[in-house]
Amino acid sequence: MLMARIRGLVILIVSTMDSHLQQQTVPEPEPPRLDYTPAVAARTAALYERVRSVIPLMEWPVHAPYVDAIRRLKAERGAVVLAHNYQTPEIFHGVADLCGDSLALARQAAETDAEVIVVCGVHFMAETAKILSPGRTVLIPDLEAGCSLASSVTAADVALLRERHPGAPVVTYVNTSAEVKAASDICCTSSNAVEVVESLGAERVIFLPDEYLGRYVAGRTGVEVVLWQGHCEVHERFSAEDLRGYRASYPGVQIYAHPECPPDVLAEADYVGSTAGLLRHVDAVRPERVVLVTECSMSDNVAVAHPEVEFIRPCNLCPHMKRITLPKILASLEHMRHEVTVDAAVAAGARRAVARMLEVGRGAGG
Ligand code: 13P
Ligand code: SF4
Repeated sequence: MLMARIRGLVILIVSTMDSHLQQQTVPEPEPPRLDYTPAVAARTAALYERVRSVIPLMEWPVHAPYVDAIRRLKAERGAVVLAHNYQTPEIFHGVADLCGDSLALARQAAETDAEVIVVCGVHFMAETAKILSPGRTVLIPDLEAGCSLASSVTAADVALLRERHPGAPVVTYVNTSAEVKAASDICCTSSNAVEVVESLGAERVIFLPDEYLGRYVAGRTGVEVVLWQGHCEVHERFSAEDLRGYRASYPGVQIYAHPECPPDVLAEADYVGSTAGLLRHVDAVRPERVVLVTECSMSDNVAVAHPEVEFIRPCNLCPHMKRITLPKILASLEHMRHEVTVDAAVAAGARRAVARMLEVGRGAGG
């Protein structure tokens, strides 16, 4: 373990990298290919008009039969489909009922009356939905859709941090397992992290697992922040040099970045915000040219509503988000798989930490 102190910032680097996704899954056969019939074409024609700028015409016959079948089956099942902003456009615009960033998905999961919630996102998002809606059936189309941040920290690590920093409250990014949430005082998302940290009135907090989001928060509060060395494998790949390259190659480009990026990347950006914040900022500013320094599908999804904006699209894919596909969503609804469950005692602890965040964050987002 390495420990260092840099102006109000305690950096604690611990090397435990246990995965919370220990399930062994047997590979499943993909559902059979569905036909693009004239009836499917007619039922999905209006939808295609909305997404034609981001889905090539020759791809639509592949997606449309699944979009059509999913839309009908979710109505039969009384299901609602939640999709994170990083889902591909055929999912995001084609089958989702509710979309957004992690905070919006958590709020929507807490409020929905639907019997079944299908989470098109990663495992921690489905767990959060189950924690907030314990009476509903929560499904994830691929159980192995994990997250490098969530797998970087365990509940035992939280206990170790508490021992080393007695009295410091633990603020946990929602990109964590239910066990880690249950071991925390309060959760946060990238939309409300600064507000959550300040709400505690503490001189020092333990912030985990995202080191870069923690540093970003530390730079905006007077609170001393103890960090964990977890990183998003998508956002850590961007460099400040990449951003300078976009400015040189695309004169006048606006650069908006997600706070999971390294600090030198954020220093080059014109705006920093959660995925919902990036969307709101494009809505508000309507830049002529913009680059969203985040996962690939984000630009596609935002571009649908902004034909007047030129999106420069560097592509860093999240392999976990991309495990969710239309055929898997259809199979999920057909076979009611994969149901996400959380141990009752763990869920109760995690619910306390997430609910505390939702109280602080009411009306927030950015
Ligand atoms: P937000 O959508 O909350 O900004 O989070 C980004 C992310 O990487 C989620 O996995
Ligand atoms: Fe996790 Fe990063 Fe993928 Fe989000 S983009 S799910 S933080 S690995």
